[in-house]
Amino acid sequence: MTLNTGLLGMPADKLPIEWDASFATGVDEIDEQHQWLFRLVNDAHAYWQRDGTPERATLIEIVKGLQNYVVHHFETEERLMIKYAYFKEEVGGASSHCTQHRHFATKITAIQQALIEGGSVDKEQFLDYLSDWLIHHVKNTDQKLGAFIAARRAAVT
Ligand SMILES: [Fe+2]
Repeated sequence: MTLNTGLLGMPADKLPIEWDASFATGVDEIDEQHQWLFRLVNDAHAYWQRDGTPERATLIEIVKGLQNYVVHHFETEERLMIKYAYFKEEVGGASSHCTQHRHFATKITAIQQALIEGGSVDKEQFLDYLSDWLIHHVKNTDQKLGAFIAARRAAVT
C-alpha cells in the first residue's frame, strides 16, 4: 500500500487541522486570523467529504473565499511588520516571509484561474498543499514574527 505523505511527510488524512497553543504566535490578531484560516481549510475538506464532486461554481467560490481571506491576512501581517520595523531589524527574515506569502497567494490564484477556465483540481493534493503550507508557515515563519512583535510590545510597556 502506498501512503500519500503530502509535501512535508505528513499523512494525507491529517485533516481537519486543529489550532492549538503550539500554533500560537503571541499576537492575538494573527492568532485569531490563523484560526479562521484553519477553519476555512477544514470547511473545504468537510465540504469535499460530503460531496465528492461538487459543482465547479461551488469550487470556485470555496477557492475565492480562501483567496480573499489569505490576502487580508497577509496584509495584516505585513502591516505589523512595517509598524514594528521588522523589515529594518530582520531584513532576511522579512523578505523571505513575504516571498512565502506571494508564492502561496499565487498558487491559490492559479488554482482559481484553472477552475474558471474549465480545468480540474485534485482535491487531495490541494488540501494537502493548503494544510502543509499553513502548518509549516505558522510554525517556522509566523512564530518568529510573533516573537519579534511580542518583544517590541513588551519593551514599550
Ligand atoms: Fe505569514
